[in-house]
Amino acid sequence: MKLFLDTGNIKDIETYCAIGIIDGVTTNPSLMAKEAGDPREITKRICQIVKGPVSAEVLATDVEGMIREGRDLATIDPHVVIKVPFGKAGVQACKALRAEGIRVNVTLVFSAAQALLAAKAGATFVSPFVGRLDDVATDGMELIQQIVEIYRNYGFETEVLVASVRHPMHVVAAARMGADICTCPAPVIESLFKHPLTDIGIDRFLKDWDAAKGAQQ
Ligand code: G3P
Repeated sequence: MKLFLDTGNIKDIETYCAIGIIDGVTTNPSLMAKEAGDPREITKRICQIVKGPVSAEVLATDVEGMIREGRDLATIDPHVVIKVPFGKAGVQACKALRAEGIRVNVTLVFSAAQALLAAKAGATFVSPFVGRLDDVATDGMELIQQIVEIYRNYGFETEVLVASVRHPMHVVAAARMGADICTCPAPVIESLFKHPLTDIGIDRFLKDWDAAKGAQQ
């Protein structure tokens, strides 16, 4: 399963890309609004660092506006993927942009029916928001299971990009279900590394080594 970083923060992207575990980045207007500087320049810099798919979201809400904005964002860098919100306009814009060879991530997906329509429009990625479903007492990961099953039934090439990830067990569950990608905020990536027994184990190895070597001197 590929791991994407869900952020517009250059420092976090540099940190986790340097480790070698990040395959791409997703941004959205809320995340970009937190960062100082020109969003185009930030997007370009992200592409240079990650050298994988980087989702940049349109702000337009009508079909023509989404297509125009999508074409423009796609000129920033070949790694840019155009993120469009799900809806009639988003699905139509997705179909049009895909016909021009521009990759599209259909976002704000909350049902299997929506994911089916995104795939029919040729979406490169579909982004179901699991955390926001959990927030309203609906099982977000159950939606991932349904989408994976539907896409497998019909051989859709759209990749399932699990978004709105809040904790490490979302990532583990996504991997067990065969989702293609999980996009995670930096704290969730950080939590994937952690296990108290690893820390205790390293500490014990070093103490044992020091005790034995000290006794030999
Ligand atoms: O990429 C968008 C998505 O991951 C949002 O997450 O935590 O705001 O629901 P959240």
